[in-house]
Amino acid sequence: MTIALFGTGLLGSAIGTRLLERGHALRVWNRSPERCAALLAAGARSAASPVEAATGADWLITVLSDGPATAAVLLDGVGTALEGRRVLQMGTIGVEESVTLAAAVMARGGRYLEAPVLGSRPEALAGTLQLMAGGPCDLLEEALPLLRDLAPEPRHLGDVGSAMATKLALNQLIASLTHAFSLSLHLVQRQGVALEPFLELLRGSALYAPTFDKKLQRELDGDYANPNFPTAHLRKDLGLFLEAAAAAGLEASGLVGLQELLRGATAAGLDGLDYCALHALTAGRAAAATPD
Ligand SMILES: NC(=O)c1ccc[n+]([C@@H]2O[C@H](COP(=O)([O-])OP(=O)(O)OC[C@H]3O[C@@H](n4cnc5c(N)ncnc54)[C@H](OP(=O)(O)O)[C@@H]3O)[C@@H](O)[C@H]2O)c1
Repeated sequence: MTIALFGTGLLGSAIGTRLLERGHALRVWNRSPERCAALLAAGARSAASPVEAATGADWLITVLSDGPATAAVLLDGVGTALEGRRVLQMGTIGVEESVTLAAAVMARGGRYLEAPVLGSRPEALAGTLQLMAGGPCDLLEEALPLLRDLAPEPRHLGDVGSAMATKLALNQLIASLTHAFSLSLHLVQRQGVALEPFLELLRGSALYAPTFDKKLQRELDGDYANPNFPTAHLRKDLGLFLEAAAAAGLEASGLVGLQELLRGATAAGLDGLDYCALHALTAGRAAAATPD
């Protein structure tokens, strides 16, 4: 099976590494070719253009930043070479963006399955991602042998759009839980209360979420380097959630302040750092970017 991988960023490179380890023939294309180096050293073939990567490939996998980048690479880059090709779209994009992209791929004679994932580089490298699929059942059936190399139990959630909505619903929780814990942690520390009793009370209650402990040390140390999932992508996903929520008629204004807070990450130089750098923003202006 020949797979063409478009996008060798943080997640794409981990997915590519896993696919090579599982014995797939892999072609890689990335806008910045130097980010393909590790995969080429591991046995992937380089493609000079999206068309070259796509031609004759059994599957085209996209792991690009957002909807516009994915549409540009597939529709403008691969273009007419989409005829007869099957697309697995794994990046997190908008619900409507995915539906529109699916229609455009099909209009060019291709097939489209959205396959966003929960989990990050470590899970991609280990093949333990949680994968949500939206699109035709028969296409998912065809994709399963490949998808099972990345995720033990790919789940079919319905038509195109259903998996992306589910992914955004989950990522809204990443943003909201990180934000909620960060503010409470700051308050306890600013009041001069010992941290351990607060954490013990929290861990013993129904309010606890494992992500709190997962990010605690980074937050205490103010260490947001070497991200698996950067702050800019969390902001993008919260924005996409808000768009989907508005389209669904939800009252999501409670999240607008969080989105505004995340916009401040750019000026604070936090966009490329781990998303729990949100903790530096909740620290307030005087203490921003310094650990408590
Ligand atoms: N990282 C995670 O843990 C994780 C988990 C689940 C889902 N996701 C989603 O997966 C996608 C990729 O995430 P990532 O963390 O791998 O991001 P990343 O490291 O920022 O990589 C982004 C990729 O998109 C490419 N790109 C951006 N704009 C482009 C454009 N206009 N034209 C062509 N290529 C473009 C980049 O190319 P260059 O190298 O040239 O910039 C790079 O290959 C995102 O949708 C993200 O939300 C990520």
